[in-house]
Order: sequence, then C-alpha cells, then structure tokens
Amino acid sequence: MKIQQVVEAVQASFGRDISVYSPSFLRRCINERMKSNDVSSFGNYVDFLHEDQQEIEQLLCSMWINYTLFFRSPLDVALLEEFIFPGLIQSKEHLNSPSIRVWSAGCASGAEAYSLAILHDLVASKRAATIPVLVFGTDISPAAIEKAHQAVYDRDVMVNTKLSWLERYFVSRGRQYTLAPEWKGAVDFSVGDISDRQFTSPPGSIFADFDIVSCCNLLIYYNPEVQKRIVEKLGRSMVQNGYLVVDQSERSIIEGAGGFRAVSSFGNIFTRI
Ligand SMILES: C[S@@+](CC[C@H](N)C(=O)[O-])C[C@H]1O[C@@H](n2cnc3c(N)ncnc32)[C@H](O)[C@@H]1O
Repeated sequence: MKIQQVVEAVQASFGRDISVYSPSFLRRCINERMKSNDVSSFGNYVDFLHEDQQEIEQLLCSMWINYTLFFRSPLDVALLEEFIFPGLIQSKEHLNSPSIRVWSAGCASGAEAYSLAILHDLVASKRAATIPVLVFGTDISPAAIEKAHQAVYDRDVMVNTKLSWLERYFVSRGRQYTLAPEWKGAVDFSVGDISDRQFTSPPGSIFADFDIVSCCNLLIYYNPEVQKRIVEKLGRSMVQNGYLVVDQSERSIIEGAGGFRAVSSFGNIFTRI
C-alpha cells in the first residue's frame, strides 16, 4: 500500500497533510474506508478517491476518532480530585490569583472538558473556595465541537460517573443525559488543529498560562515528529509546575520528550519542570 498516493490526493483536494498521522493509523483508516466502500484493491481505492471528493472528506473525518467518556481515567480523576485541584485552589488563594486555567486539547464532544469543570466544582464547594476555573476545550472536528455545545450524552459516555455526580450535574431523559442548564456555559469551546504550526492555544484564552492541560488519546494517532511538536506546544502553553494529563498509552511519549516529571507512579499526570 503506497500511502503517499492517498496523502497527495487529500493534500490536493483539502490542503490537509495527513502524513502527520502515524503510518499504522493511516493504514487502518484506509482499510476501514475500503471495507465500507466494498473496494478490494488499494489501487482501485486511490482511483475512487480521485473521482469522489466526498470520499476524501469521509476518509479525513474517519481520522478524527471522537470516542470519549466522562471521568475517563479513574486514577487521574482521583489525583485531580484529591491532590491537584485542592493544591491549586490553596496556592491560588494564597497568591490572590484570579482563576485556575484549564485546557482540554482534543476535547471531542466535551466530556473531558466538562469533567474538569465538575471536578473543580466538587473540590471548591467542599472547601467553600471562591477561586473560579476557566476551562477551554478545542478539537479539530467542527461536528464534535457542535456536540460539545449541545452537551447531550448517551448513557455509555457516563459509565464512570458517580450516581451523586449524575444527579447533581445532569438531567436524565430516557437513555440520555444532558448537562444541567447552569453548566452549559462552563467551557469555552472552539475548533482548532493542534498539529498546525500556526495554532498555539485556544483563541478565547488570549494568553495561555494553563495550570492544567489535558490532552488524552490524541498524541497516539500521530507520527513521532508531530507528537514531539505537539508536546512542546503543550509545554509552552503551561505555567511552570503546571499539570499535563495524557492517556496511559501516551505516558512513554511524555517520558521521552523531557521537561516533564510524573506526579505519581500511578495515573498519567505530569508536571512541567
Ligand atoms: C479519541 S478522542 C479523545 C477525546 C478525549 N480527549 C478523551 O480522552 O476522552 C480524540 C479527539 O482528538 C481530536 N483530534 C485529533 N487530532 C486533533 C488535532 N490535530 N487537533 C485537535 N483535535 C484533534 C479528535 O477529533 C477527537 O475528538
């Protein structure tokens, strides 16, 4: 399979460089699109791509895997709830800082970004703290950001959510949960491609200086050079000693990048050193 032919077709039609993705991921996406279109040879698929603009778009969209969960990693949720948010609230109060700044990079339909806003609220309300949190969510997929604004989720997305949290922050209707109306504006969502050299941080954040950056299940899809570029960008967007949350599968990428130290032997949270 000569992926380069597909890379060129997408670049010519949409001006997007899909060589940023890891070759194995690209191969998987192409194979899946070939199966869906009942195309058995790679050469025929390349011809099909040249004939059908819509298929190029479909292939591109298939690379934006939007699977997500609220409170996806229980270990990281425990670290955030018991250690990171309490520590940040205490130090911000001490320094009289105006807010805690959080970025969910690759937020899909918003579950990760809302989870961070909710965790802050749980900790702050327990301590009667008044330091607000500003949460920004960005994703390359306009459809995912649209869903994030709607904030309506299937039950499957809520499997890690405690019953008391469901009752407090969501309204249930049939098999779906909608974020309670007072939480709908809790995150500033925008579309953005983090692999793009021009993109530095969420436009609404004005300056970055994030205390927490969560970028889970995104790096894994990219080639090592682009992973490095994204990790450096995330590092620059954080305050000194800020926290970076990734997925378990991405720990080794951060360990290899340098400039970060794991906050604990469990979980997948690093601090910028
Ligand atoms: C598998 S989902 C993970 C969602 C969430 N972070 C989580 O862990 O539950 C990966 C998300 O990253 C987004 N994504 C992929 N590449 C991106 C890029 N270059 N810039 C911004 N978002 C990207 C996809 O559209 C998708 O919504």
